[in-house]
Amino acid sequence: MGNLSRRGFLQAGGALVALGAVAGHAAAEAATSPPARQVTPLDSGWRFHLGHAADPARDFGFGASHDTYAKSGDIGTAIQAADYDDSAWQAVELPHDWAVDLPFTPFGAPGSEADKIGAYQGFKPLGRRFPATSVGWYRRELPIAAAEAGRRLFLDFDGVGRDCLVILNGFVVGGNESGYVPFRLDISDFAKPGEPNILLIRCDVSLGEAWSYEGAGLYRQVRLVSCAPAHIRHWGTAVRCTVEGEAASIAITTEIDNDGPALPVRLRSTLLDPQGKPVAALLSDPVTLPDWGAHELTQTVRLDRPALWSLEQPSLYRLISEILEGEHTIDQQETPFGIRSFRFDADHGLFLNGKPVKVKGTCNHQDHAGVGFAVPDSLHVWRIEQLKAMGSNAYRSTHHPAPPAVLEACDRLGMLVLEETRQMSSNPEALGQLERMVRRGRNHPSIFLWSIGNEEIHRGTETGARIAETMKRRVYALDGTRPVTEAFNGKLGKGASRVLDVMGCNYYLDEIDAFHAAHPTVPMIGTETASTVMTRGAYHRDDQAGILPAYDREFPRWASTAERWWRFYDERPFLAGGFVWTGFDYRGEPTPFERWPQHSSYFGVMDSGGLPKDNYFYYRAWWRNEPMLHLFPHWTWPGREGQPVEVWVHANCHAVELLANGSSLGRQNLERNGHLQWTVPYAPGWIEARGFDAQGRQILTQRRETVGQPAAIALSSDRQRLKGGEVAVVRAAVLDAAGREVPTADTLVRFRLAGAARLLGVGNGDPRSLEPDHADQRHAFNGLCVAILQAKGNGPIRVEAEAAGLKTGELAL
Ligand code: GAL
Repeated sequence: MGNLSRRGFLQAGGALVALGAVAGHAAAEAATSPPARQVTPLDSGWRFHLGHAADPARDFGFGASHDTYAKSGDIGTAIQAADYDDSAWQAVELPHDWAVDLPFTPFGAPGSEADKIGAYQGFKPLGRRFPATSVGWYRRELPIAAAEAGRRLFLDFDGVGRDCLVILNGFVVGGNESGYVPFRLDISDFAKPGEPNILLIRCDVSLGEAWSYEGAGLYRQVRLVSCAPAHIRHWGTAVRCTVEGEAASIAITTEIDNDGPALPVRLRSTLLDPQGKPVAALLSDPVTLPDWGAHELTQTVRLDRPALWSLEQPSLYRLISEILEGEHTIDQQETPFGIRSFRFDADHGLFLNGKPVKVKGTCNHQDHAGVGFAVPDSLHVWRIEQLKAMGSNAYRSTHHPAPPAVLEACDRLGMLVLEETRQMSSNPEALGQLERMVRRGRNHPSIFLWSIGNEEIHRGTETGARIAETMKRRVYALDGTRPVTEAFNGKLGKGASRVLDVMGCNYYLDEIDAFHAAHPTVPMIGTETASTVMTRGAYHRDDQAGILPAYDREFPRWASTAERWWRFYDERPFLAGGFVWTGFDYRGEPTPFERWPQHSSYFGVMDSGGLPKDNYFYYRAWWRNEPMLHLFPHWTWPGREGQPVEVWVHANCHAVELLANGSSLGRQNLERNGHLQWTVPYAPGWIEARGFDAQGRQILTQRRETVGQPAAIALSSDRQRLKGGEVAVVRAAVLDAAGREVPTADTLVRFRLAGAARLLGVGNGDPRSLEPDHADQRHAFNGLCVAILQAKGNGPIRVEAEAAGLKTGELAL
């Protein structure tokens, strides 16, 4: 019986199918039948045009007549017609964010409230002030063959920015309000198999949902799904695993929708282990699906010695669910899942598979240099790789559900996820958002906590508590395997906090011990911490110029430094760890310079292009168990000879000695979670930090030299081989004649690409730069800039970076 125990067989309440027979049967069937379910990604073939939020004449006539919605099947615009010529529209591929191409635009007089709002929105002209750029239309033909007649057809959206109306063949087939939540629309009645099917999507970003840049349009993926009338409901499987000693019991719930006449079926659930080997197969008794109705089945099985999902070894199982009509598979779906146990302990924090884990997390918005909100899946993966390299083990998607690529990458790479809903309310819209988040996410082993809100105005009130109760009930009904939290900024202990399983704390370190003392049985986690602000590669504060030094020193009133929050959390075993605000800079919220032209945040441990700031090395030193030493600032300060320069070291060795031009400036011992600093009068030459272990052996060294004038560009990428669709973040560094990076260079770098790739965009991490993202050139900022390219097919890719008078940089991928 292999891994399938007798108990599992009995609990399944159905026949046990020999595993070999399952695999053999599936193979034979695949050779003869068309796929039971067909999923067509709709990434290409779109046309895009701006509409207008206030003037129907400039919105293709949409809404020109007061009775636009009087009759279904005609939305009153010529663009719904199959023969409408859209060749003048822009050809676009998804993901697409039309706001990236809009010019940076001042919102109001310097220092005015409007100026501040503009800074929060990243100075892109979106919102009610800008009706001419706040509506976008997408148009394309849907590939629906004649053979699809009688099948069920759906459009799946991972997220649309925002308030969208989806129109097929002139019929409104649905819409969606929030820009962050996935949704499915049933288009079966409106599709015309074998004929042209015209899909229109109108997105309206006049109103927003965040206090930072939100992008606009089809910034995540869209898919066409075709399946049999009897099919597994969207997000209709739940795999709940309970680790019991050496074994795990797995309960699989499957919801089946039957959009057709009554039908006798059986459900076959096959579990594949991380190597793809079938380890259990459960065949249900026959059930008759009701005429145009639904049915839910639960199957259970016990696995002996399963491979557990952990941060070090993120083992993933797969569930293959099949609906069988007779012996024929009429619908099939694959669900990856992981088997792990975790618990929160009010005294000792988080335990994963019985071992304590301190959460070393970052909060992140979906936004990146060069692409805005239209972050390709592979770039999401790259971002998570950078965070992991820093030693981070957790990701909080703020303040909305994560894109699917983030959840998949965290499952695969071993990173915990705090998944958060957008709207904290118990109204139908908010509960709908919550339900979709939980249904979609519940099988992802990386998700360890659901957040139902962030810094809500009502958090400390009884209304807030009632809302939290309703939301928590809904989460329990849909999942029930993970606790619920809410991110509180102060007011700990009040209102909704009594409802939460885990108290989420944003900032305000001074309230934490008091809450723990008063509520010793409530586990606590730092949902948001740090908010240190700094400019990559800058070492002086210049308020006029909008520059902050990259020493771990500057933070807004509610926040603290990296060192202060991490020491605090690390010293308190009852705290499960916390999430830094933020892993990456993002557009909008340029605290403390909330005025033109600053349009991007300064909070990131990495800048908006993913280039590390010095704090990256603080976290890396204390979050990763590997010897490390990072010395800063650079040592090229012409004109500052004789003036004092603050020199810092982030490291994790026992002691560090600093030398300047051959003379020792002393050796200092490093405290756990600390840093070291010296004040050194500047003289051209070099500084060097030497790291020693407890036995006094020198184990690490780093030197900063005074460099010369720019002479060349050097390109590098941490990804050398790309599959079609994958991206590389190409780092361009300005070098002097001796091949050393010039940390102050602002050289204009022009990128040229040849071969099987396209340039998605460029960036340099300067929160004030008004240069376009979609361009083939960028000024270096403090010596560096990036180009993001995407592979098309499998051929060689060649990148060149030119700058006037400098040696061209080259890179082959
Ligand atoms: C928090 C908020 C975040 C961000 C951050 C900046 O209060 O939850 O979204 O605004 O402050 O420090």
